[in-house]
Amino acid sequence: MQENVLIQARAGHYAIGAFNVNSHDEIIALAQKAQEMNIPIIMMASMSCARFMGVKHFARFVRMLNDEYTVPIYSHLDHCTDPDLVMQCAEAGFDSVMFDGSPLSFEENARISAELAGKCHRLGVFIEGELGVIAGEEGPVKSKYSQFTDPDAAQRFVEVTGIDSLAVSIGNAHGFYKGEPKLQFELLSQIAGRCALPLVLHGGTGIPDADIRRAISMGIAKVNVGTELRKAYVNALYQYTRENEKGDVRPFIKALRAGVAGAASRYLENFTNPCL
Ligand code: 13P
Repeated sequence: MQENVLIQARAGHYAIGAFNVNSHDEIIALAQKAQEMNIPIIMMASMSCARFMGVKHFARFVRMLNDEYTVPIYSHLDHCTDPDLVMQCAEAGFDSVMFDGSPLSFEENARISAELAGKCHRLGVFIEGELGVIAGEEGPVKSKYSQFTDPDAAQRFVEVTGIDSLAVSIGNAHGFYKGEPKLQFELLSQIAGRCALPLVLHGGTGIPDADIRRAISMGIAKVNVGTELRKAYVNALYQYTRENEKGDVRPFIKALRAGVAGAASRYLENFTNPCL
């Protein structure tokens, strides 16, 4: 990323959609959907996806799409607890990376985040940090319970680390919500008042449209979505194979791509239209 597009997003009261992917077809489906809607998009690799697809390959594949499509398409490493992998991805050409030190103490999280921020910035790579604990499971980071982000601690964390964006815990959770999620808007307003940088909402799957739009209007500049896309991909796979016993490869892949693009489009519409 040449410039931190999330700063523009926060200032303009919109968000950029960031989607967890695990395959080329999901990436292509999302790139095509972003192009159709004429909006930028972020392709996120979890730690295991980065290792599965290959760190260099992921970065280069996403970069190559920028020759083909006119909308900006970015690569991002999501929820990485391993500083070495953060640097491997930054060196391989990822546009941005996340160091997730949320299971650590404030001091340890801040120390490692600051160190990585310095190194990433020298490479022109943006870095996301996290403070507070988001309930649910995302790769190696698991927690049964949320620990909401403390606004004063968040302000200190941003000041001492020099990170470019901050993931917040405000009632959001990874995976499917049990019941209706209850975002803490008063808390978000306090965090946004103390932290001018772009804020990131994880656990996008299942958050009602109106809540997503409200959060964006208050400072959320990147929204992460994973579970719903994985479900759409697998559902499309089963449906196609059920209905087409002797199906061919390309129609099968087309069905998978359509499933993923369909699941993403509802979110993308909210991110770009924060019309409160
Ligand atoms: P969901 O899987 O709940 O959409 O969350 C994805 C996420 O926040 C990835 O960081």
